[in-house]
Amino acid sequence: MSFEDHLSISIGDHILHRARWNMRQPLIAGNWKMNKTATEGQVLAQAIRLGLQTSVVEVVLCPPFPVIPIVHATLQGSSIRLGAQNVHWEDAGAFTGEVSPVMLKEWCQYVIIGHSERRQYFREDDEMIRRKVLAALRHGLIPILCVGETLAQREAGETEGVVTAQTRRALEGLTPEQATRVVIAYEPVWAIGTGRAANGADAEKVIQRWVRGTLEELFGPAVAQQMRILYGGSVTPENITEFICRPAIDGALVGGASLRAETFLGIIHETARVKA
Ligand code: PGA
Repeated sequence: MSFEDHLSISIGDHILHRARWNMRQPLIAGNWKMNKTATEGQVLAQAIRLGLQTSVVEVVLCPPFPVIPIVHATLQGSSIRLGAQNVHWEDAGAFTGEVSPVMLKEWCQYVIIGHSERRQYFREDDEMIRRKVLAALRHGLIPILCVGETLAQREAGETEGVVTAQTRRALEGLTPEQATRVVIAYEPVWAIGTGRAANGADAEKVIQRWVRGTLEELFGPAVAQQMRILYGGSVTPENITEFICRPAIDGALVGGASLRAETFLGIIHETARVKA
């Protein structure tokens, strides 16, 4: 076995995907948040599975914890990946109500970490988020790290400071190999669930200059170029083109529009058309 063969097998198939899709495979992830019962989740996952007509885009569904097993069963044999919406940093122990990466890895390949709703309502800070990212990576889960400024921060001209600090604090200390496995979602808080998506040029500027710029400082340009960065915040089938037509934006983290197969598939298929 050659060194390259060995490397591909040990690092996993996402490396192979990257090689095929001009380094970064487009990714559309659906964050169901606290929506869908197991029965409803099964119906939605099945409809997405049946309607999916592309392999250009990597698709990830992130249901609530109790809905994960039935969605896992529904997606058996398909290319659609599964993610969780949160994770604890310890493997096990006296942490009532928490779910560990060891439990998740039986079901999921991805986990959303540091979503603004967790930062805002559950007081997650940068240090907790950093520990969660490390724990996820330790167990082979791919973190989807969320960063983004609030409206007040944006209006005070603090977007650059907030986004660079959140990115840096969550990822500091990772090895370059660990960093290549991380996905980042830039989600301006004021755009989430408001129907007021960011302007594509603004999102591109934040992603290119401040998110990828920080990754370059931390891990060097070659690693930063391999890392996928998504946009999130009121993405719909109508506005997705505005974001994914930009080479710096590798896909989207979708909330509300991921709750209906028709709108979620619309976003995926438009992404496949533009990025193919
Ligand atoms: P939204 O949510 O698409 O409903 O704005 C996005 C997110 O919170 O990830």
